[in-house]
Amino acid sequence: MQGFARKLSERSSQGPALGSGCSKSFLPSPWRKVRVHRVPVQSVAAASASNPEKQVKLFSPSKVNLFLRVVRRREDGYHDLASLFHVIDLGDDMDFGLLPEGVTSETLECSDPTVPTDDSNLVIKALNLFREKTGINRFFYVNLDKKVPHGAGLGGGSGNAATTLWAANELLGRPATTKQLLEWSGDIGSDISVFFSHGAAYCTGRGEIVEDVTPPLPLTTPLLLVKPPLGLSTPTIFKSLDLARRSQRDPQELLASMTEAGRTGAQALQEFCVNDLEQPAFDNLPQLAELKAQIGDALESSAVFMTGSGSTIVAVGSDTPPACLSEPQHKELFISPARLITRKSGEWYKPSGMWSSNPQ
Ligand code: C5P
Repeated sequence: MQGFARKLSERSSQGPALGSGCSKSFLPSPWRKVRVHRVPVQSVAAASASNPEKQVKLFSPSKVNLFLRVVRRREDGYHDLASLFHVIDLGDDMDFGLLPEGVTSETLECSDPTVPTDDSNLVIKALNLFREKTGINRFFYVNLDKKVPHGAGLGGGSGNAATTLWAANELLGRPATTKQLLEWSGDIGSDISVFFSHGAAYCTGRGEIVEDVTPPLPLTTPLLLVKPPLGLSTPTIFKSLDLARRSQRDPQELLASMTEAGRTGAQALQEFCVNDLEQPAFDNLPQLAELKAQIGDALESSAVFMTGSGSTIVAVGSDTPPACLSEPQHKELFISPARLITRKSGEWYKPSGMWSSNPQ
Protein backbone atom coordinates (compact mmCIF):
# COMPACT_ATOMS: atom_id res chain seq x y z
CA MET A 1 0.00 0.00 0.00
CA GLN A 2 2.98 2.39 -0.09
CA GLY A 3 1.69 3.81 -3.34
CA PHE A 4 -1.27 5.15 -1.45
CA ALA A 5 0.72 7.77 0.49
CA ARG A 6 -1.12 11.07 0.38
CA LYS A 7 0.69 14.03 -1.15
CA LEU A 8 0.07 17.71 -0.67
CA SER A 9 0.84 20.30 -3.31
CA GLU A 10 1.39 23.61 -1.57
CA ARG A 11 0.95 26.79 -3.51
CA SER A 12 3.69 29.28 -2.89
CA SER A 13 2.51 32.69 -1.82
CA GLN A 14 5.53 34.13 -3.62
CA GLY A 15 4.83 32.76 -7.06
CA PRO A 16 2.28 31.29 -9.40
CA ALA A 17 1.07 27.86 -8.46
CA LEU A 18 1.93 25.09 -10.85
CA GLY A 19 -0.47 22.28 -11.49
CA SER A 20 1.22 19.47 -13.30
CA GLY A 21 4.71 20.48 -12.39
CA CYS A 22 7.54 20.51 -14.88
CA SER A 23 11.20 19.79 -15.04
CA LYS A 24 13.64 22.49 -13.97
CA SER A 25 15.37 22.50 -17.31
CA PHE A 26 12.02 23.25 -18.94
CA LEU A 27 11.22 26.21 -16.76
CA PRO A 28 11.47 29.65 -18.29
CA SER A 29 12.37 32.36 -15.79
CA PRO A 30 8.88 33.34 -14.51
CA TRP A 31 8.34 29.74 -13.48
CA ARG A 32 11.40 29.50 -11.28
CA LYS A 33 9.37 31.18 -8.56
CA VAL A 34 7.10 28.17 -8.43
CA ARG A 35 7.58 25.81 -5.57
CA VAL A 36 5.83 22.49 -5.69
CA HIS A 37 6.18 21.00 -2.26
CA ARG A 38 5.08 17.41 -1.90
CA VAL A 39 4.87 15.84 1.50
CA PRO A 40 3.86 12.28 2.27
CA VAL A 41 1.47 12.84 5.15
CA GLN A 42 0.49 9.45 6.47
CA SER A 43 0.09 5.86 5.45
CA VAL A 44 -3.47 4.96 4.65
CA ALA A 45 -4.40 2.99 7.69
CA ALA A 46 -8.01 2.52 6.72
CA ALA A 47 -7.12 1.00 3.38
CA SER A 48 -4.38 -1.23 4.80
CA ALA A 49 -6.76 -2.49 7.45
CA SER A 50 -9.36 -3.25 4.83
CA ASN A 51 -6.76 -5.06 2.74
CA PRO A 52 -7.93 -4.41 -0.82
CA GLU A 53 -7.97 -7.49 -3.03
CA LYS A 54 -6.72 -5.70 -6.15
CA GLN A 55 -5.29 -2.26 -6.82
CA VAL A 56 -4.80 -0.01 -9.81
CA LYS A 57 -3.14 3.39 -10.25
CA LEU A 58 -4.53 5.59 -13.01
CA PHE A 59 -3.89 9.01 -14.46
CA SER A 60 -7.02 11.17 -14.36
CA PRO A 61 -6.79 13.67 -17.23
CA SER A 62 -8.58 16.96 -17.85
CA LYS A 63 -9.88 18.59 -21.06
CA VAL A 64 -10.06 21.79 -23.04
CA ASN A 65 -12.83 22.97 -25.36
CA LEU A 66 -11.21 24.08 -28.62
CA PHE A 67 -14.55 25.66 -29.45
CA LEU A 68 -17.83 25.76 -27.57
CA ARG A 69 -21.09 26.91 -29.11
CA VAL A 70 -24.26 27.05 -27.02
CA VAL A 71 -27.04 25.95 -29.34
CA ARG A 72 -30.13 26.54 -27.18
CA ARG A 73 -31.47 26.85 -23.66
CA ARG A 74 -33.50 23.75 -22.73
CA GLU A 75 -36.65 23.34 -20.67
CA ASP A 76 -34.77 21.28 -18.07
CA GLY A 77 -32.41 24.17 -17.29
CA TYR A 78 -29.51 22.74 -19.28
CA HIS A 79 -28.17 24.01 -22.59
CA ASP A 80 -27.57 22.08 -25.79
CA LEU A 81 -23.97 22.51 -26.84
CA ALA A 82 -21.82 21.80 -29.88
CA SER A 83 -18.23 21.66 -28.77
CA LEU A 84 -14.89 20.25 -29.84
CA PHE A 85 -13.33 18.75 -26.72
CA HIS A 86 -9.78 17.50 -26.42
CA VAL A 87 -8.36 15.54 -23.49
CA ILE A 88 -5.08 16.98 -22.14
CA ASP A 89 -2.26 15.73 -19.95
CA LEU A 90 -2.82 18.04 -16.99
CA GLY A 91 -4.23 15.50 -14.58
CA ASP A 92 -4.57 14.03 -11.13
CA ASP A 93 -3.11 10.77 -9.87
CA MET A 94 -5.63 8.25 -8.59
CA ASP A 95 -5.14 5.00 -6.67
CA PHE A 96 -7.98 2.51 -6.43
CA GLY A 97 -8.36 -0.64 -4.34
CA LEU A 98 -11.17 -3.17 -4.49
CA LEU A 99 -12.27 -3.74 -0.89
CA PRO A 100 -13.10 -7.28 0.27
CA GLU A 101 -16.60 -8.65 -0.11
CA GLY A 102 -18.77 -7.67 2.84
CA VAL A 103 -17.30 -4.14 3.10
CA THR A 104 -20.23 -1.79 2.48
CA SER A 105 -18.69 1.67 2.51
CA GLU A 106 -16.25 3.59 0.35
CA THR A 107 -13.04 5.29 1.51
CA LEU A 108 -12.10 8.40 -0.45
CA GLU A 109 -9.01 10.40 0.48
CA CYS A 110 -7.97 13.58 -1.28
CA SER A 111 -4.75 15.63 -1.11
CA ASP A 112 -6.79 18.86 -1.36
CA PRO A 113 -8.65 19.50 1.91
CA THR A 114 -11.08 21.88 0.15
CA VAL A 115 -12.46 19.02 -1.95
CA PRO A 116 -15.44 17.32 -0.22
CA THR A 117 -15.00 13.55 0.10
CA ASP A 118 -18.67 12.78 0.81
CA ASP A 119 -21.49 11.71 -1.54
CA SER A 120 -21.30 15.06 -3.35
CA ASN A 121 -17.91 14.08 -4.80
CA LEU A 122 -18.19 12.83 -8.40
CA VAL A 123 -15.90 9.89 -7.51
CA ILE A 124 -18.48 8.58 -5.02
CA LYS A 125 -21.31 9.37 -7.46
CA ALA A 126 -19.47 7.35 -10.12
CA LEU A 127 -19.08 4.34 -7.80
CA ASN A 128 -22.76 4.51 -6.76
CA LEU A 129 -23.68 4.66 -10.46
CA PHE A 130 -21.42 1.71 -11.29
CA ARG A 131 -23.04 -0.44 -8.57
CA GLU A 132 -26.54 0.58 -9.66
CA LYS A 133 -25.93 -0.16 -13.34
CA THR A 134 -23.96 -3.42 -12.96
CA GLY A 135 -25.78 -4.75 -9.88
CA ILE A 136 -22.33 -5.62 -8.45
CA ASN A 137 -22.34 -4.56 -4.82
CA ARG A 138 -18.60 -4.02 -4.25
CA PHE A 139 -16.90 -1.04 -2.60
CA PHE A 140 -13.58 0.68 -3.22
CA TYR A 141 -10.74 2.57 -1.65
CA VAL A 142 -9.79 5.72 -3.62
CA ASN A 143 -6.88 8.11 -3.10
CA LEU A 144 -7.00 11.27 -5.20
CA ASP A 145 -3.86 13.38 -5.57
CA LYS A 146 -5.34 16.58 -6.94
CA LYS A 147 -3.43 18.81 -9.36
CA VAL A 148 -6.15 20.12 -11.68
CA PRO A 149 -7.66 23.31 -10.24
CA HIS A 150 -11.42 23.45 -9.81
CA GLY A 151 -13.73 26.16 -11.17
CA ALA A 152 -11.32 26.11 -14.10
CA GLY A 153 -13.35 24.81 -17.07
CA LEU A 154 -10.86 21.94 -17.31
CA GLY A 155 -13.29 19.19 -16.27
CA GLY A 156 -10.98 17.92 -13.53
CA GLY A 157 -13.84 16.48 -11.42
CA SER A 158 -15.42 14.97 -14.53
CA GLY A 159 -12.09 13.35 -15.39
CA ASN A 160 -11.99 11.89 -11.87
CA ALA A 161 -15.48 10.42 -12.34
CA ALA A 162 -14.60 8.90 -15.72
CA THR A 163 -11.34 7.48 -14.36
CA THR A 164 -13.25 6.00 -11.41
CA LEU A 165 -15.75 4.24 -13.71
CA TRP A 166 -12.84 2.87 -15.75
CA ALA A 167 -11.00 1.68 -12.60
CA ALA A 168 -14.05 0.01 -11.03
CA ASN A 169 -14.69 -1.81 -14.30
CA GLU A 170 -11.03 -2.94 -14.51
CA LEU A 171 -10.92 -4.12 -10.90
CA LEU A 172 -14.06 -6.20 -11.43
CA GLY A 173 -12.89 -7.85 -14.67
CA ARG A 174 -14.59 -5.53 -17.17
CA PRO A 175 -18.28 -6.38 -16.67
CA ALA A 176 -19.20 -3.28 -18.74
CA THR A 177 -18.17 -2.15 -22.21
CA THR A 178 -16.59 1.28 -22.78
CA LYS A 179 -19.76 2.26 -24.66
CA GLN A 180 -21.85 1.42 -21.58
CA LEU A 181 -19.54 3.44 -19.31
CA LEU A 182 -19.91 6.37 -21.72
CA GLU A 183 -23.70 6.10 -21.76
CA TRP A 184 -24.02 5.68 -17.98
CA SER A 185 -21.72 8.59 -17.22
CA GLY A 186 -24.23 11.10 -18.66
CA ASP A 187 -26.46 10.39 -15.62
CA ILE A 188 -24.06 12.10 -13.21
CA GLY A 189 -22.59 14.96 -15.29
CA SER A 190 -22.48 16.52 -18.73
CA ASP A 191 -18.78 16.38 -19.55
CA ILE A 192 -17.74 13.00 -18.15
CA SER A 193 -18.69 11.04 -21.29
CA VAL A 194 -16.05 12.77 -23.43
CA PHE A 195 -13.29 10.94 -21.53
CA PHE A 196 -14.61 7.65 -22.99
CA SER A 197 -13.84 8.94 -26.49
CA HIS A 198 -10.31 8.41 -27.75
CA GLY A 199 -9.37 11.96 -26.72
CA ALA A 200 -10.68 14.26 -29.45
CA ALA A 201 -14.46 14.46 -29.65
CA TYR A 202 -17.24 16.57 -31.06
CA CYS A 203 -19.86 16.65 -28.31
CA THR A 204 -23.50 17.68 -28.53
CA GLY A 205 -26.63 17.48 -26.34
CA ARG A 206 -25.67 18.58 -22.81
CA GLY A 207 -22.17 17.47 -23.82
CA GLU A 208 -22.89 13.78 -23.26
CA ILE A 209 -23.39 12.83 -26.93
CA VAL A 210 -19.86 12.01 -28.03
CA GLU A 211 -18.50 11.57 -31.53
CA ASP A 212 -14.85 10.63 -31.91
CA VAL A 213 -12.98 12.86 -34.36
CA THR A 214 -9.42 12.92 -35.66
CA PRO A 215 -7.32 15.22 -33.43
CA PRO A 216 -7.37 18.58 -35.22
CA LEU A 217 -3.79 19.37 -34.19
CA PRO A 218 -0.58 17.38 -33.82
CA LEU A 219 -0.31 16.00 -30.27
CA THR A 220 3.07 17.71 -30.01
CA THR A 221 1.42 21.17 -30.20
CA PRO A 222 2.47 23.13 -27.10
CA LEU A 223 -0.34 24.42 -24.86
CA LEU A 224 -0.23 26.88 -21.99
CA LEU A 225 -2.96 27.01 -19.31
CA VAL A 226 -3.35 30.17 -17.24
CA LYS A 227 -5.96 30.47 -14.49
CA PRO A 228 -6.56 33.30 -12.03
CA PRO A 229 -7.09 32.27 -8.40
CA LEU A 230 -10.82 32.96 -8.71
CA GLY A 231 -12.68 30.05 -10.25
CA LEU A 232 -16.07 30.33 -11.95
CA SER A 233 -19.22 28.36 -11.15
CA THR A 234 -20.57 26.55 -14.22
CA PRO A 235 -24.30 27.04 -13.36
CA THR A 236 -23.71 30.78 -12.75
CA ILE A 237 -21.94 31.19 -16.07
CA PHE A 238 -24.64 29.36 -18.02
CA LYS A 239 -27.33 31.42 -16.22
CA SER A 240 -25.66 34.72 -17.11
CA LEU A 241 -25.25 33.82 -20.79
CA ASP A 242 -27.04 36.37 -22.98
CA LEU A 243 -28.22 34.24 -25.91
CA ALA A 244 -28.40 37.32 -28.14
CA ARG A 245 -24.65 37.82 -27.80
CA ARG A 246 -23.62 34.35 -28.93
CA SER A 247 -21.47 33.66 -31.96
CA GLN A 248 -23.35 32.97 -35.18
CA ARG A 249 -20.75 30.44 -36.43
CA ASP A 250 -22.06 27.09 -37.56
CA PRO A 251 -20.49 24.42 -35.30
CA GLN A 252 -20.07 21.88 -38.12
CA GLU A 253 -18.25 24.52 -40.15
CA LEU A 254 -16.08 25.37 -37.14
CA LEU A 255 -15.17 21.71 -36.84
CA ALA A 256 -14.23 21.41 -40.52
CA SER A 257 -12.36 24.74 -40.57
CA MET A 258 -10.47 23.99 -37.39
CA THR A 259 -9.31 20.64 -38.72
CA GLU A 260 -8.17 22.33 -41.92
CA ALA A 261 -6.49 25.24 -40.08
CA GLY A 262 -4.80 22.86 -37.64
CA ARG A 263 -2.60 21.66 -40.49
CA THR A 264 -1.15 25.11 -41.08
CA GLY A 265 -0.29 26.15 -37.53
CA ALA A 266 -1.80 27.41 -34.29
CA GLN A 267 -2.31 31.03 -35.26
CA ALA A 268 -4.67 30.05 -38.08
CA LEU A 269 -6.94 28.46 -35.44
CA GLN A 270 -7.73 31.71 -33.62
CA GLU A 271 -10.82 32.66 -35.60
CA PHE A 272 -12.35 29.24 -34.95
CA CYS A 273 -11.65 29.08 -31.20
CA VAL A 274 -15.09 30.47 -30.38
CA ASN A 275 -16.45 30.06 -26.87
CA ASP A 276 -19.96 31.40 -26.23
CA LEU A 277 -19.30 31.23 -22.48
CA GLU A 278 -16.55 33.88 -22.67
CA GLN A 279 -19.19 36.65 -22.61
CA PRO A 280 -20.79 35.60 -19.29
CA ALA A 281 -17.40 34.67 -17.80
CA PHE A 282 -15.91 38.06 -18.73
CA ASP A 283 -19.03 39.85 -17.42
CA ASN A 284 -18.58 38.02 -14.10
CA LEU A 285 -14.82 38.43 -13.99
CA PRO A 286 -13.69 41.41 -16.12
CA GLN A 287 -10.02 40.77 -15.22
CA LEU A 288 -10.30 37.53 -17.20
CA ALA A 289 -10.95 39.44 -20.44
CA GLU A 290 -7.85 41.54 -19.69
CA LEU A 291 -5.80 38.43 -18.99
CA LYS A 292 -6.88 36.86 -22.28
CA ALA A 293 -6.01 40.07 -24.17
CA GLN A 294 -2.61 40.31 -22.49
CA ILE A 295 -1.73 36.70 -23.29
CA GLY A 296 -3.02 37.12 -26.85
CA ASP A 297 -0.89 40.23 -27.37
CA ALA A 298 2.19 38.55 -25.96
CA LEU A 299 1.79 35.23 -27.80
CA GLU A 300 0.99 36.53 -31.25
CA SER A 301 1.53 33.24 -33.01
CA SER A 302 -0.76 31.32 -30.66
CA ALA A 303 -4.54 30.94 -30.55
CA VAL A 304 -5.80 32.19 -27.17
CA PHE A 305 -9.27 31.44 -25.75
CA MET A 306 -11.16 30.43 -22.59
CA THR A 307 -11.99 26.76 -22.01
CA GLY A 308 -15.42 25.51 -20.85
CA SER A 309 -17.10 27.88 -18.40
CA GLY A 310 -13.71 29.26 -17.31
CA SER A 311 -11.75 30.59 -15.66
CA THR A 312 -8.76 29.02 -17.50
CA ILE A 313 -7.31 30.78 -20.53
CA VAL A 314 -5.63 28.43 -23.01
CA ALA A 315 -2.89 29.34 -25.47
CA VAL A 316 -2.38 26.88 -28.31
CA GLY A 317 1.00 27.19 -30.00
CA SER A 318 3.28 28.07 -27.09
CA ASP A 319 3.91 26.67 -23.61
CA THR A 320 6.30 29.41 -22.52
CA PRO A 321 4.62 31.85 -20.15
CA PRO A 322 5.04 35.38 -21.53
CA ALA A 323 7.17 37.75 -19.44
CA CYS A 324 4.10 39.87 -18.56
CA LEU A 325 2.80 37.00 -16.40
CA SER A 326 5.77 37.37 -14.05
CA GLU A 327 4.59 40.86 -13.03
CA PRO A 328 3.60 41.17 -9.34
CA GLN A 329 -0.15 41.43 -10.02
CA HIS A 330 0.00 37.94 -11.58
CA LYS A 331 1.79 36.21 -8.73
CA GLU A 332 -1.26 34.11 -7.79
CA LEU A 333 -1.88 32.74 -11.27
CA PHE A 334 -1.96 29.00 -11.86
CA ILE A 335 0.25 28.44 -14.92
CA SER A 336 0.93 25.08 -16.50
CA PRO A 337 2.20 23.74 -19.81
CA ALA A 338 0.13 20.94 -21.31
CA ARG A 339 -0.23 18.63 -24.30
CA LEU A 340 -3.21 17.12 -26.09
CA ILE A 341 -3.46 13.38 -25.42
CA THR A 342 -5.41 10.45 -26.81
CA ARG A 343 -5.92 6.88 -25.61
CA LYS A 344 -5.80 3.56 -27.38
CA SER A 345 -8.89 1.33 -27.43
CA GLY A 346 -9.01 -0.82 -24.29
CA GLU A 347 -6.49 1.39 -22.46
CA TRP A 348 -6.86 4.41 -20.22
CA TYR A 349 -5.08 7.76 -20.75
CA LYS A 350 -1.45 8.07 -19.78
CA PRO A 351 0.36 11.35 -19.15
CA SER A 352 2.48 12.60 -22.03
CA GLY A 353 5.58 11.92 -19.89
CA MET A 354 6.92 15.41 -20.64
CA TRP A 355 6.73 16.76 -17.11
CA SER A 356 8.75 15.43 -14.22
CA SER A 357 5.83 15.23 -11.75
CA ASN A 358 4.00 12.51 -13.66
CA PRO A 359 6.47 10.48 -15.68
CA GLN A 360 5.12 7.17 -16.98
O1 C5P B 1 -23.91 18.39 -15.86
P1 C5P B 1 -23.09 19.17 -14.91
O2 C5P B 1 -23.32 18.78 -13.48
O3 C5P B 1 -21.65 19.21 -15.25
O4 C5P B 1 -23.60 20.66 -15.05
C1 C5P B 1 -23.44 21.63 -14.05
C2 C5P B 1 -24.38 22.77 -14.33
O5 C5P B 1 -23.95 23.49 -15.49
C3 C5P B 1 -25.80 22.36 -14.61
O6 C5P B 1 -26.55 22.25 -13.43
C4 C5P B 1 -26.31 23.50 -15.48
O7 C5P B 1 -26.65 24.60 -14.68
C5 C5P B 1 -25.06 23.89 -16.27
N1 C5P B 1 -25.01 23.25 -17.58
C6 C5P B 1 -25.87 23.66 -18.60
N2 C5P B 1 -25.81 23.06 -19.80
C7 C5P B 1 -24.91 22.09 -20.06
C8 C5P B 1 -24.01 21.67 -19.06
C9 C5P B 1 -24.10 22.26 -17.82
O8 C5P B 1 -26.68 24.56 -18.38
N3 C5P B 1 -24.86 21.56 -21.26
